[in-house]
Amino acid sequence: MNSSDLPIFQARWRDLKALRAHESICFNQDDAWPLIELFGVLIQPKIVRLKIEVDSQIVGFFAGLPLRNSEYGTVLTISVLPGWQGQGLGKRLLATGETALDRPIIELTTRRSNAAAINLYKGAGYVQTGVREGYYFGEDGLIFEKHIR
Ligand SMILES: CC(C)(COP(=O)(O)OP(=O)(O)OC[C@H]1O[C@@H](n2cnc3c(N)ncnc32)[C@H](O)[C@@H]1OP(=O)(O)O)[C@@H](O)C(=O)NCCC(=O)NCCS
Repeated sequence: MNSSDLPIFQARWRDLKALRAHESICFNQDDAWPLIELFGVLIQPKIVRLKIEVDSQIVGFFAGLPLRNSEYGTVLTISVLPGWQGQGLGKRLLATGETALDRPIIELTTRRSNAAAINLYKGAGYVQTGVREGYYFGEDGLIFEKHIR
């Protein structure tokens, strides 16, 4: 199947093991979430959680939270397995996640050094609005926002 045809599904608590495996490949030890946080993301009612799966392996994942009584939705995480990167899955997950968040403004934070993520966000219409100094174990976090039309 062509990667652009891979369907996007809601992730569920049963995906915990597969999500852990996915996270440990996509993120370094500092940035990978602990098991308890992954479980939280899979069970908390308001969270938008999306997965792309191939042969029971999660190849792409998105999680976001529509903030309560706010016009903001926040992207909590987005990741694509290295072997599947550069094929538009990140772009599709982000767009689908934004729609599901259903808020006029979407915000997120990423490492200053994360060129792939920054390019993904800028290409999707995000604009940098601030800096969280030292947010990632000493490295700055760049805050991005997108106003959804
Ligand atoms: C960031 C990430 C999710 C992008 O996923 P992806 O599926 O490779 O992204 P896409 O193929 O949809 O590419 C979308 C855009 O991202 C940018 N991009 C993707 N990979 C890139 C790379 N290696 N270098 C520079 N820009 C890159 C490009 O602008 C691309 O648009 P283009 O194809 O029109 O040039 C992926 O690199 C990843 O999972 N990284 C590790 C986890 C991570 O850092 N997540 C973000 C946390 S804030």
